[in-house]
Amino acid sequence: MPSAVCPGTFDPITNGHLDIIERSAYIYGKVVVAVGRGYGKETLFTVDEREELVAQSVSGISGAKVVVFDGLLVEFAREQSADVIVKGLRAVSDFEHEFQMALLNKRLAPGIETVFLMASPEYMFLSSSGVKEIAKFGGSVTGLVPGVVEMGLSGKYRG
Ligand code: PNS
Repeated sequence: MPSAVCPGTFDPITNGHLDIIERSAYIYGKVVVAVGRGYGKETLFTVDEREELVAQSVSGISGAKVVVFDGLLVEFAREQSADVIVKGLRAVSDFEHEFQMALLNKRLAPGIETVFLMASPEYMFLSSSGVKEIAKFGGSVTGLVPGVVEMGLSGKYRG
């Protein structure tokens, strides 16, 4: 049975990410949740905070483990003996970027497959950036992110 890598920046992890991770664990048995160190993106949460929030959020998912990575995703997947990269796809807007990354990764490592899971309808609209914007301006993110992330966001935006 191939094992899977679920990569992302997770700034922060949302219930949409969790849904994809849970479904990946169900399909593949084992899933490495790969927290990208940054790749030049300015993040609200440090990599240690993102790793901790992801770890707490996936603690109930059997077969899931969390690892921080940098460098090429396919190299990381090889190190983890994973031959599948699982990404979630929301609307058409995700497609072009994801398609490009999948093809580049395929060129770099033909033996590693990228598999897309369609976002569940209730999370189609959900993004980390949307969640941050809501939290920043005092809106409620209940139901959109795990409880630990909700607390993390209020810590960041308090005052
Ligand atoms: O979904 P996100 O948060 O935009 O995740 C981005 C991530 C970390 C999955 C992406 O930046 C990535 O795969 N980075 C690794 C760099 C890499 O391997 N690049 C070559 C293929 S484009």
